[in-house]
Amino acid sequence: MAREFTRVGVVGLGTMGAGIVEVFARNGVDVVAVEISDAALERGRANLTGSTDRAVARGKLAEADRDALLGRVTFAVGLDALHSVDLVIEAVPERLDIKQRLFADLDRVCKPEAILATNTSSLSVTEIAVATTRPDQVIGMHFFNPAPVMKLVEVVRTVVTSADVVADVEALCVRLGKVDVTITDRAGFIANALLFGYLNHAIGMFEARYATREDIDAAMKLGCGLPMGPLALLDLIGLDTAYEILDTMYRRGGRDRRHSPVPLLRQMVTAGLLGRKSGRGFYTYERAGSGKLVPDELTPTAPTSTDGARAVTTVGVVGSGTLAAGLVETFTAAGYQVVPVDPAGELPRLADVDLVVEATADDLDGTKALLAGLGEVCKPGVVLATTTSALPVIDLAMASGRPADVVGLHFANPATPLVEIVRTIRTSAEATATARAVVAALGRTGVVCADRAGFIVNALLFPYLNDAVRMLEADYSTTDDIDNAMKLGCGYPTGPFELLDTVGLDVALAVQRALYRELREPGLAPAPLLEQLVTADRPFRR
Ligand SMILES: NC(=O)c1ccc[n+]([C@@H]2O[C@H](COP(=O)([O-])OP(=O)(O)OC[C@H]3O[C@@H](n4cnc5c(N)ncnc54)[C@H](O)[C@@H]3O)[C@@H](O)[C@H]2O)c1
Repeated sequence: MAREFTRVGVVGLGTMGAGIVEVFARNGVDVVAVEISDAALERGRANLTGSTDRAVARGKLAEADRDALLGRVTFAVGLDALHSVDLVIEAVPERLDIKQRLFADLDRVCKPEAILATNTSSLSVTEIAVATTRPDQVIGMHFFNPAPVMKLVEVVRTVVTSADVVADVEALCVRLGKVDVTITDRAGFIANALLFGYLNHAIGMFEARYATREDIDAAMKLGCGLPMGPLALLDLIGLDTAYEILDTMYRRGGRDRRHSPVPLLRQMVTAGLLGRKSGRGFYTYERAGSGKLVPDELTPTAPTSTDGARAVTTVGVVGSGTLAAGLVETFTAAGYQVVPVDPAGELPRLADVDLVVEATADDLDGTKALLAGLGEVCKPGVVLATTTSALPVIDLAMASGRPADVVGLHFANPATPLVEIVRTIRTSAEATATARAVVAALGRTGVVCADRAGFIVNALLFPYLNDAVRMLEADYSTTDDIDNAMKLGCGYPTGPFELLDTVGLDVALAVQRALYRELREPGLAPAPLLEQLVTADRPFRR
């Protein structure tokens, strides 16, 4: 007979716990909500009422339903209040010692048949389970942030979890309106194993001043359709929690350096910059617990970014492919006088233009020769832009003989609103400002970044896709479950395998090879399965 879950306990009412309380209480389950001290309990209560009040204000919850929801929650300090619950979910800090101690205590306090669940993101559920005398009744229930919104729950079964416990928890997820993906106990499970390398890499980019926080976040939102950029997401997760997750993933997940927390993250945690929960992380918020951004000393002042831009009225577009044709249309629609040019012999027609955009094939020797030709025919002061997604812009800049005037303008795809503006170590401030002004005049969002393989978007996106292929290769999960986990747990518009098939596996492999060549990071080596599918000319989904 399946278990009835009429009364559950939630331990720890921080970022995740308060949301988990809300999920249960919204679905008619009585909740005993437990914290460590009176002050923490009050903060937890405020987290819950703040969230439900916002739902009422947005018309997503009726006032009477909010009152009924809150009426189902009993708040308490200490674990004794949990003696009669059917299930406990803990959401205390991501540290094995804290969780093991807590589970040993829960084991003593809770009735023998109660199930004990952990919301850990990266720790071993098995190691937590063996701190109790009922490891067969310990399971992972990994909710996603914000718990009331994200549909996914990763149900983690260990080698000792009873089959009936797994089945009952899966049924409970359905009752809560969630979609469950059941998996075994591996660091980061599905979603975090794919997400945290990407988040850490984004912190590294910010630390290295590769691009501003706003540009890194805008690039991933606009370039990939993500609900928020990586640095804003880290602020939502909490930087202390993110640090612990990365640290555990590094140690448990094969010591992949991409999971070794970027030093800046630790410094920020030590300085009390924990993200939204402390009011300041990568961004600054109105107050602790708020998601409302306020300007700070890093907030860009818009007018200065195009200061020094050169006047552009005529634009030469070089190339004969789809991108070139799309750019001719785009520049014409924005009111520029456009001179379309076939690279084979028509370059002298560019003698009077103010900006040249080359959109020819990514062939290093051919494009260098083209830039050398542009350097000869164009008038001085013309900005020379390359749309390459694969070649180092500095090589093309040097070939032109006027490197200060050369920028990259990466239109990932003519339809996306994002343009990556690539400045090399020789690009002048005026050329960058001109590129920014032109991109703004096209109605696009420009983000400025340094001249590195993959710029911002591809450098952050493709390793994640490659990691998904590795996960499939290791037989940890299926294409459907991995795609669903990223869509329902992290709000991605498409799953990694759907995206890989759309982009083309050959393109993905070429980008990944370029990233690996530049950084020589073992974790970036293309997944053998990706290489094989390209050789066999097969997509992931047929
Ligand atoms: N933050 C996220 O986005 C996210 C997402 C999914 C899962 N998780 C996981 O959820 C868990 C909690 O993370 P968080 O980000 O909500 O942390 P948090 O720091 O926001 O909240 C932790 C809460 O636990 C309380 N606490 C500490 N020790 C306690 C104890 N012994 N008994 C009762 N309460 C105690 C603290 O007072 C605090 O309110 C972690 O395991 C984390 O990996 C976090």
